[in-house]
Amino acid sequence: MEVVPLVRDALAEIGVRYLFSQDAATLLPFASRLFWAREVLERPSRWVWPRWIPTPARHFRTRQQVAFTDALRPIVRRRRSSGRLGDDMLGQMLQPSSRYGLLSEEAVLDTLPGITVATFETPSRAAGWILLDLARHPQAADRVAAEAALLPTDPATTTSTHLDSLHYTQALVREVLRLHPPSWLLVRRATRPTQLADYTIDAGSTVLVCPYTAHRDAREHREPDQFQPERWLEDPGSPTKPGAFLSFGTGPHGCEGAALAMTMLTLLTAHTAHRYHLSEPPGPQPSYQVTTFGGLATTGLHLRATPRN
Ligand code: HEM
Repeated sequence: MEVVPLVRDALAEIGVRYLFSQDAATLLPFASRLFWAREVLERPSRWVWPRWIPTPARHFRTRQQVAFTDALRPIVRRRRSSGRLGDDMLGQMLQPSSRYGLLSEEAVLDTLPGITVATFETPSRAAGWILLDLARHPQAADRVAAEAALLPTDPATTTSTHLDSLHYTQALVREVLRLHPPSWLLVRRATRPTQLADYTIDAGSTVLVCPYTAHRDAREHREPDQFQPERWLEDPGSPTKPGAFLSFGTGPHGCEGAALAMTMLTLLTAHTAHRYHLSEPPGPQPSYQVTTFGGLATTGLHLRATPRN
């Protein structure tokens, strides 16, 4: 069975619950359909249609976006009218903030479909690479398993202290994200003429930043093509060196969900390695293919999971 769709379903449940707690069950099916609508849209096609043509894929995406918003609207209204805003991300958005004041209903409804899919779309791409690397580096997987033995048996009682103790597991997740950044190409438009090292960028130019190549630059990362989670233990300052680690982007539009993503991926890695030995199925067929549409991802990833004693 293919691994990533299973992981994505699990991460979707976590992500949607993080955003909507007791209303998650209502919204989860809409979130899954919205994800599929976006996937269909990103599939490579023989033709590039102008943006204004309502192709069936675009029409389907719009319908799913509207369906999600229609399901969310009564929840927002109920929470606002009852005054019980909720102890979750939606609850936070319904509180007035010093920066944005009180958000209008439309602002909340426009923002949340994208954020909802973001909680599991890119994390599941990252998870595919993590599970593949656990299979390919059994010694690293053993080290993660040993660390994970310190986690409580009941996952619901896991605290941030437990999470902070998973040093090697966090380093492994970072190393996978360095070698396989799901967002492998970032796009910026220069709003004014800008000098960048020896280059003059004209206003209005599009600038492409490639985390994939930056992460494999030997000036920043020793033996950059090698899988070495230890590098993040030896040099914990590296992730904060500007430009050295770009998996979550950087600057004012860097990833808003980096902490959530690291938490989900670290716990997923720890629990999986603790319970299973992963391996690639034997045989001449590769256990996966690579796609770059919508992000650097494994497709058709198949792994064998053998329970650890
Ligand atoms: C491994 C998982 C993830 C990766 C690799 C990732 C990566 C990124 C990157 C590279 C950007 C910046 C894009 C750019 O500069 O053009 C970004 C932006 C963003 N991410 Fe993530 N992300 C992940 C998970 C999440 C999660 C779990 C959320 C949940 C809320 C999230 C929400 C966002 C949002 C809202 C932005 C837009 C920020 C802005 O434009 O101000 N991401 N992400």
